Amino acid sequence: MTMNVVAIDGPVGSGKSTVARALADALDWRFLDTGAMYRAVTCEALRHGSNLDDDHVLGELAESLEIETSPRVTVNGRDVHDELRTAATNAAVSHVAVLPSVRRAMVHQQRAFAQRHPEGVVVEGRDITTVVFPDARLKIFLTASLDARTLRRHDEDAASIQRRDEIDSAREHSPLRQADDAMMVDTTEKSVTDVVEEILACLLHI
Ligand code: DC
Repeated sequence: MTMNVVAIDGPVGSGKSTVARALADALDWRFLDTGAMYRAVTCEALRHGSNLDDDHVLGELAESLEIETSPRVTVNGRDVHDELRTAATNAAVSHVAVLPSVRRAMVHQQRAFAQRHPEGVVVEGRDITTVVFPDARLKIFLTASLDARTLRRHDEDAASIQRRDEIDSAREHSPLRQADDAMMVDTTEKSVTDVVEEILACLLHI
């Protein structure tokens, strides 16, 4: 069944969150930032001093967390929005996101979110077009040059960005890749408004 979902994937700094948020506003739909969900699990694991390689322990932790990402990121009602982008989280999140039990718990929450909002949702991440919502109404793959992506990120240098992209693309479960039927948009030289208008035009024609 085609769901009222616009699914957006792409590497670090390609513009996913900014574009997805603006698109959701334009459509009056809800927005879900799944990277923030993996960051929230990572922050909780760091706070508990958990072994970040332990699939079972981190899977149980992930299952115990109710995560909202808009307008602020909250975990079981606690606002963690300003804790998600520390150097420690940037370094650890791709390792936590590799764990199958963590992914299972997050995908379950992401699908439940879309079911709660049949009016429509815009969801962005790494495996949204390929795994979470393969039947989305529209699938977008955003890219941009490494220079442009580095300029957009104030919390991370080019080396860290490349390291995360490599781990996210090479992992066994749900790697970042462009879905066969996803529309590719290179955002290097485009404004947010340009990209949102391009996607809105596509939505009108399907
Ligand atoms: O979009 P972001 O940079 O906030 O995402 C943080 C990390 O979370 C990213 O390096 C990989 C992981 N991630 C994932 O594995 N699957 C998703 N759907 C979203 C993010």
